[in-house]
Amino acid sequence: MDLETLNQQIAEIEADVAKKVGDMQAVDALRSLDTSILGKKGTLGSLIGGIKDYPPAQKGQVGQTINAAKKRVKAIIDARHAALKQAAVSADSAGAMAHDPTLPGDRPTMGSVHPVTAVQWEVERIFERLGFTVEAGPEMESEYHNFEALNIPASHPARDMQDTFWLTNGSVLRTHTSPVQHRSMKKFGAPLRVIAPGRCFRYETIDASHENTFHQVEGLLIDKDISIANLIAMAKTLLNEVMNREVKVRVRPGFFPFVEPGIELDMNCEICDGAGCATCKRSGWIEVLPAGMVHPKVLEAGGIDTEVYTGFAFGLGLTRLAMMKYGIRDIRVLNSGDLRPIVGRERQGGAVIVSREP
Ligand code: DAH
Repeated sequence: MDLETLNQQIAEIEADVAKKVGDMQAVDALRSLDTSILGKKGTLGSLIGGIKDYPPAQKGQVGQTINAAKKRVKAIIDARHAALKQAAVSADSAGAMAHDPTLPGDRPTMGSVHPVTAVQWEVERIFERLGFTVEAGPEMESEYHNFEALNIPASHPARDMQDTFWLTNGSVLRTHTSPVQHRSMKKFGAPLRVIAPGRCFRYETIDASHENTFHQVEGLLIDKDISIANLIAMAKTLLNEVMNREVKVRVRPGFFPFVEPGIELDMNCEICDGAGCATCKRSGWIEVLPAGMVHPKVLEAGGIDTEVYTGFAFGLGLTRLAMMKYGIRDIRVLNSGDLRPIVGRERQGGAVIVSREP
């Protein structure tokens, strides 16, 4: 084919492409047009194969002519492709197209784990390693489980220590997680290692350090030859692990009807580092772990042979521990519903100032 014919043929192909492309609505059709023109066997593509038939002096020019034509055709097809894509995007944002899988997805707004939940999980992991089972009890509890089974009979003054929400059906909102002690003894018998994290409720005026809804982790270990030394060692292990360092603790006598002897285990206030602040009521210490040796009456009520077994129990203040761990000074923020993720923590003096995403 002489050069003139070649040019003419190319011009026809180009005109044909321009016409076809203009009508095309689907990306798929564009792709097959692309192959049928530019592919090896396509109308333009196959011309390359004919270059060898030209005299050597013309070969270069023929090649250039064909390649230039291929580029122009490619540009026409690409432009239409881009236009179709843009049209699809506009249609989608106008709501006409429900779903365009070629668009990048929306980034979902992710929540963050609540500080109390985070510490609860950590405490659970630590105790699981120590061979404890994780149990749960009901938040609506019977008077028997919340009080009687724990050696707090109706006339006992200790009932006043726990401002109780009484329900019209005679049940209570559990004032502590201790009822799970009794439930677990009944369920598993001895020997026993169990923890029971959960929500507790008290009819209290809310302020910076009191909430009517808070979290505890009950712990109960029953076995042969258990002493208070085991209890204190375990408590230290727990606090050191949760706080990631050696925590200063002190032990005082404490009274709870379900233990004898009872102790109050306090940790150094992490907000003021022991200097005294509003959170620790200027004492430098935070009561986090009231505990003791399980009262024989409580063991008996749970069906445990007190001739063989002794045990210790504790009621870890999970909410307080979370406040210490994350430097939260006001208990009210924990139930406030402010879901913005914490993005920074800064120590200022003894206090940790938390900043949130705006
Ligand atoms: N149940 C007690 C409370 O909420 C805390 C407590 C004290 C739990 C001593 C225990 C314990 O298991 O041994 O006030």
